[in-house]
Amino acid sequence: MKREQWGSRAGFILAAVGSAIGLGNIWRFPYMAYENGGGAFFIPYLFAMLTAGIPFMLMEFSLGHKLRGAAPRTFSKIGVKLEWLGWFQVFIAAIIAVYYVAVIGWAISYFSYSFTQSWGSDTNGFFFSEYLKLGENSPTKLGSLQLHIAIPMVLAWGITFAAIFGGVKGGIERANKILMPLLFIMVMGLITRIVFLPGALDGLNYLFQPDFSKIMDAKVWSAAYGQIFFTLSVGFAIMIAYSSYLPEKSDINNNAFMTVLINCGFSITAGVLIFGVLGYMAQEQAKPITEVVSAGVGLAFVTIPAAINLLPAPYILGPLFFLALVVAGLSSHISIIEAVTSALIDKMNWSRKKAASIVCGVGFIVSLAFATNGGLLLLDLIDYFINNVALLTSCLIELLVIGWLFKAADVRSYANNISEFCVGKWFEICIRFLSPIMLAVILSTNLINTFK
Ligand code: PFF
Ligand code: NA
Repeated sequence: MKREQWGSRAGFILAAVGSAIGLGNIWRFPYMAYENGGGAFFIPYLFAMLTAGIPFMLMEFSLGHKLRGAAPRTFSKIGVKLEWLGWFQVFIAAIIAVYYVAVIGWAISYFSYSFTQSWGSDTNGFFFSEYLKLGENSPTKLGSLQLHIAIPMVLAWGITFAAIFGGVKGGIERANKILMPLLFIMVMGLITRIVFLPGALDGLNYLFQPDFSKIMDAKVWSAAYGQIFFTLSVGFAIMIAYSSYLPEKSDINNNAFMTVLINCGFSITAGVLIFGVLGYMAQEQAKPITEVVSAGVGLAFVTIPAAINLLPAPYILGPLFFLALVVAGLSSHISIIEAVTSALIDKMNWSRKKAASIVCGVGFIVSLAFATNGGLLLLDLIDYFINNVALLTSCLIELLVIGWLFKAADVRSYANNISEFCVGKWFEICIRFLSPIMLAVILSTNLINTFK
């Protein structure tokens, strides 16, 4: 059977950008930047983007385009003994998929609460005790399924399933053509209101004011590299699968640069949005901004609801924010599930409809573990391990395989041949030397810190 294809160049870019832009941009990036030295984080972040993110994206687009397979098939064509690397990446994707969807489910719930701010004034208590039901005596119990968490997850799975089931052009591309423009409009609407709030500029100052004492800290570099791979969806089978549907004539270099730059531009925009709100909140409560910021999950589901309580027209800005989170999350979730589905279609010769049903069915059941009152604990553990160990390991192996076995120079000349502008020799330097060395150092530091 002929491999499916994107309907247009714009369709592919929207899908790739849809995969890249996700929960990672809206709640992960702002907090990462804040925690790792504010403005000083941008130096390692931009360095990682230019020397690892762009080459990596270019490499995955070339591999998918040339070898025409999901990750396992692509790597098996490079070397028969390398198929496992593809499956390792598919496995990482599958794990991410089941907890990522839980966060989308929370965002759906909060979207519905935001019309009347039914989270009340104690947003911390509401999120942890009332919503997640982390009762003090049962924080680790996996036993009891929480229907109010599971039901929005069903909705998220339903949308993802419909997109995957509908095929590359009729489902995934079509979904992104609706979701992405919607996301950009919502974020633009939010940002034009937020930056004019009193105190917003103080928040931005806080985000962009560099703390150079942190720049020599290995943790900051680790955070920057981890964030780049996560945010770009590279290193876990997704972009290889998406680019395997590219038409013969495709400007790979251009597509790769566009995807990376749009994603990172969006992250900075989201940072402005979040810190603008935090600055406003700090001013309203006459507190220093450090006291209104909270970490990770807490940022989107504790701090932002508290901020929404204080906003003018909260019943508009609140739903806009949470719908943006849902939309960004869904387009990414679709891509993660496609990475798994396409691998099974290649390997088992299943029809797309069969593969989509099995993957979403099994995925849904497994993801219910996150709708119990042990869900958050499990999520934190897995998220930490995935980002600090599994993801970096997978990226490092991929760099070594392509850089040294497959020949990075071949990848570059392949991409240059079909692209309008050419990338230079810096590509090989990044793929073969710079990025693997950086990753090896970061990974070993992380492992030592984990087991210390
Ligand atoms: N890149 C997206 C984000 O930043 O949220 C989504 C994502 C896709 C994250 C795949 C993780 C992942 F494995
Ligand atoms: Na992203």
